[in-house]
Amino acid sequence: MTVAFVVVLLAALHSCDGKLSFASYYGDHMVLQKSPQRAVLWGYAPEGSQVTVYLSGTTTQKVSSAPVTEGIWRVSLDPVDAGGPYNVTALCQNSTHTLTDVLFGDIWLCGGQSNMHFQTSQIFNASEELALSSRYPHVRTFMAAFRMSDSELTDLMQVELPWSVPAFDTLRKFSAVCWLFGRHMYDYLKYPIGLVESCWGGTPVEAWSSSRALKQCGLKLAGDSTKNNNSVLWNAMIHPLLNFSIYGAIWYQGEANAHYHKDKYNCSFPAMVNDWRMAFHQGSGLQTAVDFPFGFVQLATYQENSTDDSFPEIRWHQTADVGFVPNPRMKNTFMAVAFDLPDKTSPYGTIHPRDKQDVAHRLMLGARAVAYGEKDVPFLGPFPNQILSSDFIFVSYDQPIIVLPSKNIFEICCSDTKATCGPSSSWVPAAIMSWNRTSVQLKPSSCAPPDVAALRYAWKDWPCEFKACPVYSSSGILPAPPFILKRHTDTTTWKRSSRT
Ligand SMILES: *[C@@H]1O[C@H](CO)[C@@H](O)[C@H](O)[C@H]1NC(C)=O
Ligand SMILES: *[C@@H]1O[C@H](CO)[C@@H](O)[C@H](O)[C@H]1NC(C)=O
Ligand SMILES: *[C@@H]1O[C@H](CO)[C@@H](O)[C@H](O)[C@H]1NC(C)=O
Ligand SMILES: *[C@@H]1O[C@H](CO)[C@@H](O)[C@H](O)[C@H]1NC(C)=O
Ligand SMILES: *[C@@H]1O[C@H](CO)[C@@H](O)[C@H](O)[C@H]1NC(C)=O
Ligand SMILES: *[C@@H]1O[C@H](CO)[C@@H](O)[C@H](O)[C@H]1NC(C)=O
Ligand SMILES: *[C@@H]1O[C@H](CO)[C@@H](O)[C@H](O)[C@H]1NC(C)=O
Ligand SMILES: *[C@@H]1O[C@H](CO)[C@@H](O)[C@H](O)[C@H]1NC(C)=O
Repeated sequence: MTVAFVVVLLAALHSCDGKLSFASYYGDHMVLQKSPQRAVLWGYAPEGSQVTVYLSGTTTQKVSSAPVTEGIWRVSLDPVDAGGPYNVTALCQNSTHTLTDVLFGDIWLCGGQSNMHFQTSQIFNASEELALSSRYPHVRTFMAAFRMSDSELTDLMQVELPWSVPAFDTLRKFSAVCWLFGRHMYDYLKYPIGLVESCWGGTPVEAWSSSRALKQCGLKLAGDSTKNNNSVLWNAMIHPLLNFSIYGAIWYQGEANAHYHKDKYNCSFPAMVNDWRMAFHQGSGLQTAVDFPFGFVQLATYQENSTDDSFPEIRWHQTADVGFVPNPRMKNTFMAVAFDLPDKTSPYGTIHPRDKQDVAHRLMLGARAVAYGEKDVPFLGPFPNQILSSDFIFVSYDQPIIVLPSKNIFEICCSDTKATCGPSSSWVPAAIMSWNRTSVQLKPSSCAPPDVAALRYAWKDWPCEFKACPVYSSSGILPAPPFILKRHTDTTTWKRSSRT
């Protein structure tokens, strides 16, 4: 008698009626991460109940089952090859919840500030781009709403744009860089691509960093005595996504750090990248690669004729002060150089150049080489592999170049003392005298050759006009990135990390 009563009561407590759901970022038309990774799915159901997940499509059927603890169920599917559509059904007792038109492919997370948020309707040739949307039904988009939190959240507070098949109305509000990159990846891979936009204009890297990452760079933690915004977007807009299996991330940010902890960006940015990698790996039950590919856009331009060094310094710090990526401090990363894409008349302000097509194209080249391991795809602009200073300065590049003459794009720091050449040193232009297929020859102004202590290239916010910088790859597509290189004291050799 008593026993029977208890059983009935428990069953009533555990009734799944109306209480079974998926987490906020699972929805119809979504893309789940394809094999060899396992897609992770999770959601809510009454404590103590059991949730089973079925996958139904033309080719395979998989079933996974999980208990509900603390109101949350979570399953990892067996690896599913790229393709679809599938229906994904969660079943709890006699309640079901089905996601329809689900594809399997690669998920890319798109983060950063306003240049990542910059919408497809705002770019050059926006109407032509939006008209292409119908050709890409297998590139799906999702966008998290702008939210902050003082503590790490399990789920997003709000979804801005649910998973969508691209169409004029949704795509116009979606990130242009994220979309353009995604459709290039689709053209290359020929299987579904899921794009998750989670970014916010005007935000510094610290807001997107966990306390673990901030601590590594001696930055204040959220909740320290002085009020700050550190970790608030990590908490609300990244942490909830950790349980999702992803393939990689792209990132366009740094402007907000030009005058905020700028000198720490060479630590805070690489630390954030590595912390995200570790956290996504663990959150997904080891499905997201522990070194997942991370692409980013090196800052474009802001103020013409500006002598403020903060943009060039952030550009340098974006590479962990090496000048190019990947490098030993930033492994499995790729970078789109963008300082040669200024937009003087952007109605959104010069800090928001409208040419996102070239940015996405350069990211795509990096992703092919770094994220998908394609051999022999050129994705790095020319970088010096030898500098010799005698009566002239010879800069040899690691690949064939094309050159436009310039009187002042190269600058030298002339110093007979052993003082380090820094931003406050006196830098003088070194004009390009001549060049050949792989090197340029510079005139060291009035500096006595032994006193040439450092050389820098394109060390200005806005160093050249649109696609008219002095050094490009022989294809004309990849600009030589900016650099600042110092000569070892008392030798003729110059500091340089080798490309790996
Ligand atoms: C998914 O569910 C919808 C609606 O119930 C149905 O029309 C469709 O055929 C199903 N698709 C698959 C692949 O099972
Ligand atoms: C599910 O089962 C419960 C208990 O047997 C019943 O009360 C409820 O009506 C059922 N709901 C549906 C949707 O069939
Ligand atoms: C945090 O960021 C928000 C949004 O950018 C801003 O409104 C607020 O003033 C910031 N708070 C502090 C303490 O910096
Ligand atoms: C980062 O840059 C600052 C300022 O340019 C420099 O003092 C510091 O040594 C660099 N730190 C690292 C970790 O490279
Ligand atoms: C998601 O991952 C985080 C970090 O590993 C973990 O704390 C949290 O419990 C996970 N949430 C779910 C719903 O699995
Ligand atoms: C920058 O300098 C050039 C050449 O002196 C001038 O034509 C241009 O108007 C200047 N631009 C700004 C924004 O001051
Ligand atoms: C816009 O379209 C024109 C005409 O096709 C083309 O010349 C130009 O390069 C395009 N701009 C961008 C940024 O793609
Ligand atoms: C280019 O000039 C440098 C310096 O004079 C020389 O060492 C090098 O061999 C030349 N390279 C080619 C391809 O002509």
